[in-house]
Amino acid sequence: MSIQLSSTDFPADLPADLPAALPADLQAEHLISPPPQAGPSGPPVRLGILASGSGSNFEAIAQAIAQGQLNATIAVLIYNNPGAGVVARGNRHNIPSLLLNHRDYDSREALDAKIVASLQAHGVEWVVMAGWMRIVTPMLIDAFAERMINIHPSLLPSFKGLGAIDQALASGVTIAGCTVHLVTAEMDSGPVLMQAAVPILPGDTAESLHQRVQVQEHRILPGAIALAVNRARARLTETAPS
Ligand code: GRF
Repeated sequence: MSIQLSSTDFPADLPADLPAALPADLQAEHLISPPPQAGPSGPPVRLGILASGSGSNFEAIAQAIAQGQLNATIAVLIYNNPGAGVVARGNRHNIPSLLLNHRDYDSREALDAKIVASLQAHGVEWVVMAGWMRIVTPMLIDAFAERMINIHPSLLPSFKGLGAIDQALASGVTIAGCTVHLVTAEMDSGPVLMQAAVPILPGDTAESLHQRVQVQEHRILPGAIALAVNRARARLTETAPS
């Protein structure tokens, strides 16, 4: 069977001349890996970082601050695994760190209540989960509603939860990536702030792919923090009585 299309099958409002190239701020490479974004404007935002592992994303944030690309202070680093690599990084950057070992708490809520109290005691405004390998509860999410950011090694909404890189490899997709998003009650499902795409190459292992995904994580995380804080501050200015 052949289908004949006539000109009336196409929407009338499509411009006759499609632009030859994307505008400069929408170049394809920027869609694949957004350019670094400085900010936020205004006073430095006080961050609390939650991390469980090696802390390379923590490092990316600390370096962006040191280089003047991210207008922020890390008020406290909270980690849950005693031997985590992130601790040495925190010390090198002279950042107060606090071990809250989940094994010492009876429930997720009990741990999260302690996290909230610690973040508040350090005057934290925004929380960044930079490789925090724990499910968080409303106890924490509600205390920092719309002021909590997570980084996940997939192009959400694909491949939520643990083993995102393995999930991507097993699924047969050819493009992986990472996502920075706001944290909401449903895991890995909050509004997306920034994403970067990473091609899967023939012969990739979980390790080789994760390494390239992490290069992009480090690139977009500081800018995504600036973006989120800028947006929230702009909303506050809009709603402030004049
Ligand atoms: C990152 O790949 C992040 O996306 C995931 O955990 C990993 C943490 O890596 N949530 P690091 O500890 O920041 O090096």
